[in-house]
Amino acid sequence: MNMDLNRNTQADSDVQSASLNGSTTAVKVGIDLGTSRSAICSSKGDRLVMASVVGWPKDAISAKVFGRKVLVGDAVLENRLALKTCFPLKDGNLAFTQTDGDDKETLRKAGLHLFTALRQAANPGPNQPVHAVIGAPAEATRENKQAIIDLANEAGIEGVMVVSEPFAVAYALDALEDAMVVDIGAGTIDLCRMAGSLPGVEDQVTVFHAGNHVDARICELLREQRPDVQFTPNMIKQAKERFSSVVDTHKRALVQFPINGRPTEIDITDQISAAVGELVPHITEGIQKLVSTFDPEFQHRIRNRVIVSGGGSQVYGLQEALEKGLEELGGGHVVIVDDAVYAGAQGALKLAQEMPEEYWQQLGENS
Ligand SMILES: Nc1ncnc2c1ncn2[C@@H]1O[C@H](COP(=O)(O)OP(=O)(O)OP(=O)(O)O)[C@@H](O)[C@H]1O
Ligand SMILES: [Mg+2]
Repeated sequence: MNMDLNRNTQADSDVQSASLNGSTTAVKVGIDLGTSRSAICSSKGDRLVMASVVGWPKDAISAKVFGRKVLVGDAVLENRLALKTCFPLKDGNLAFTQTDGDDKETLRKAGLHLFTALRQAANPGPNQPVHAVIGAPAEATRENKQAIIDLANEAGIEGVMVVSEPFAVAYALDALEDAMVVDIGAGTIDLCRMAGSLPGVEDQVTVFHAGNHVDARICELLREQRPDVQFTPNMIKQAKERFSSVVDTHKRALVQFPINGRPTEIDITDQISAAVGELVPHITEGIQKLVSTFDPEFQHRIRNRVIVSGGGSQVYGLQEALEKGLEELGGGHVVIVDDAVYAGAQGALKLAQEMPEEYWQQLGENS
């Protein structure tokens, strides 16, 4: 049950025979494969979110410390000094497909370990197949999607369908018509308009200016303005997630960063607010692009139901800032999803459970 559903794969016949024997039916899962973190929801009720990062012990001592050859997820970030770390996704796609350098094989293996960890999180029984709908960036190419399918297959996920992330979110919320979803991730902002049918290429936009860009921008501003302060991108990301805001509040972003090794309180409110604020015009531009190319009779409908998801949706004051940005472009109504962490994975699971198999191929081709 891969992208080409008419092809009778080995996995298909395994599933069929397993079902005929009355033994096991597949566990269905929805996966939100993210640049920064990946979430999985399974038909058995399990759900988990993990950092999309893989780490190998640096040397014999760290191998002794960790007792394992490879670590996946948040444990890698916690033990990063003793590990060689690798982020298998870049701009929402598998990074190994985007390079011919020496690191290609490492990136591929890291992707494989990530899929294996996600499969384990689905908690399948012995010999129980796992079938997944996986969310990828809106403008993922056919090759990108195929790479996801192949690697997931290699990790033992037999049935794989790739859909766009914002479409998965729309499906989770039953927002299948007169709506637009904006998913603000770490690598990409993905937008998709919903008009009652399967979204096509023309219904989707990917903006390559998302959370990672914001982090890089804060680092740049801080380095320029406070060259004495010591910090890592991870410290900046954590501070941003605590203090990000696009409205003026009296709350200051006060962090303890070292200066010459000495913890010192510094105020990074301005740097955070400048960098996070840059997201707004990128998002409104994407929205405008999808509105202006839509049937003029129905444009007002989609601009009046803009649903924002993804980690970036948690920026304080974003809803008001986007509505203000949209005022100049004809107005709009914005809502933020309740469950920014799992909305994509939930929608993907719902698709996996509800979509009759004959539609799977069509889903993969369009969205
Ligand atoms: N409160 C917050 N304010 C601002 N940004 C936040 C906040 N919480 C999380 N983020 C950012 O959201 C991003 C992660 O979101 P998400 O998990 O949706 O991305 P992803 O799925 O990993 O990435 P992509 O969809 O691009 O592949 C990170 O850049 C993170 O720093
Ligand atoms: Mg995402």
